[in-house]
Amino acid sequence: MGRYLVTAAWPYVNHVPHLGTLIGSILSADIYARYLRLRGHEVVFVSGSDEHGTPIELEARKKGVHPKDLTDQVHEYNLKLWRAYRISFSNYTRTESKVHKEFVIEFMKKLEENGYIFSQEEVLPYCERDKTFLPDRFVEGTCPYCGFERARGDQCDNCGRLLHPTELKNPRCALCGSKPVYKTTRHWFIDLRRIQDRLLKWLRDHRELPENVKKFSLNWVSQGLRPRSITRDTSWGVPAPFKGAEGKTIYVWFDALLGYISATKEYFMKSEGDSEKWREWWWNREVKTLYFIGKDNIPFHAIIFPAMLMASGDPYVLPWRISATEYLMYEGQQFSKSRRIGVWIDEALEIAPADYWRWALARMRPEARDTNFTWKEFYRIVNSELNDDIGNFVHRVLTLIKNRLDGEVPEVRSLADEDKKFVEMVLSEARKAMEELDVIKIKAATDHILEVARAGNRFLNERQPWKLLAEDEEAGRSALYAALWAVKTLAHLLAPFTPDAAERLWSMLGMEGSVHEAIWDEWLDKPPKPGSKIGRVEPLFTKLPANFLERIDAVIDEARVKAATKRPPLIRE
Ligand code: MF3
Ligand code: ZN
Repeated sequence: MGRYLVTAAWPYVNHVPHLGTLIGSILSADIYARYLRLRGHEVVFVSGSDEHGTPIELEARKKGVHPKDLTDQVHEYNLKLWRAYRISFSNYTRTESKVHKEFVIEFMKKLEENGYIFSQEEVLPYCERDKTFLPDRFVEGTCPYCGFERARGDQCDNCGRLLHPTELKNPRCALCGSKPVYKTTRHWFIDLRRIQDRLLKWLRDHRELPENVKKFSLNWVSQGLRPRSITRDTSWGVPAPFKGAEGKTIYVWFDALLGYISATKEYFMKSEGDSEKWREWWWNREVKTLYFIGKDNIPFHAIIFPAMLMASGDPYVLPWRISATEYLMYEGQQFSKSRRIGVWIDEALEIAPADYWRWALARMRPEARDTNFTWKEFYRIVNSELNDDIGNFVHRVLTLIKNRLDGEVPEVRSLADEDKKFVEMVLSEARKAMEELDVIKIKAATDHILEVARAGNRFLNERQPWKLLAEDEEAGRSALYAALWAVKTLAHLLAPFTPDAAERLWSMLGMEGSVHEAIWDEWLDKPPKPGSKIGRVEPLFTKLPANFLERIDAVIDEARVKAATKRPPLIRE
């Protein structure tokens, strides 16, 4: 069995995450971490709150508070939400943690010792009204590459390019809108030119990188890497440990990316009191590391992070797979906090339980192209897939066994041919789901899971075991046994996607222990145990009301009001 380190991009904690952030990184990573555990692997799953950087500082300034006040509140609140969504982190930490900050400082010193860091004067935008330099998101303007008018000083959200703030056309201060002047200041740089060749070779030879990641990165690196500044003239962040850099901080990305390592370190410190064990995971080429990110994060994970690991001179394991999702749109538009477009994950929970969202978002995962979230589609997925297909099949089978066989799993001498064929088909769909999951096609895997339920309903309609039981008892028992086998298979397959429903189904089936501990390689093909007793049968899911779509605006408003009362004061509107 292998060791897998599963990571999810660390969300900025200027606000509650929205549905796109959830499926883009954390939920996808959770489904995958759960899958790997069910395949018997050893998994460490880490993420955390990305607290530093200008998005947070900007938000805190708007609210007139210290950034730490804001991040304390949002971090605690998000932790509760991850629990509600059943995200199975080994460790969800924060970039303000002591372990993290110390790790970043040590790592930076190492890069400096290895000769990858130099300092140089730079001319940067400065706002005379706000009396501050304007790093990264503090300055906005037009992207010189694609013409997008709301590009930020560090990156263009439209074409994904990393930018230097002086490249922006028509720059303006994000705080007050005025036109910046240019002033000289000293900054520290990582010399990526010295890593260029190694990086290029790694990217070229790496067969596990998906097409979207590879294309973007090769294109970028082959144009030549320039040194990148890693310090900022702000006070919010990890203090820069270089001589002469007093009062400056490390640029948020060079701090946050190292969180993957520090979070692993903190995990073993907390769980085993061992502050060295993280090296068995990071300084170990046998470990497979997976990164679940949105596409705007590609350059940092496929270029900057591997470059940092290479420059450290330590035997770090480089990214094995990077799964970068495209964007989830909300009813045809981009999610936007400022324009109030979209649904935030706490509001979503006021509308439907976590399992419903987990399934629906997996079904809408923007795996290959931008995907549109619509309420119409959500309604269809919940009512027709979760209820009519899955819930109904399960319910039909379990109540038949309850009512006609006294709730006892029948003893069947040999399955009738049709029943055997059905079971074979079910198990083959399960294998197909696994094959998709093995290449991180999460959405594609759900097609096969759904097919088990749909085929199950067709099977019941054709075989009519309730009739068979009256005509030929042995045939009826055989059909029901086959159907039950499919239900048990569904419990396994649903476990990574709808963990609560899968567990309830497991106990309805009268199985012992937890479905989340039933390793697929041993359990998935196993037939139900004759003689065992079905537990209490309850509906697995409930439908959204028939007027849900008609009332959708009111539904959303009510959810917003309810969620707002639970939010910490600094993120109430
Ligand atoms: N906070 C970043 C974003 O939302 C992602 C950081 S990923 C990390 O785009 F690895 F750097 F933490
Ligand atoms: Zn652009």
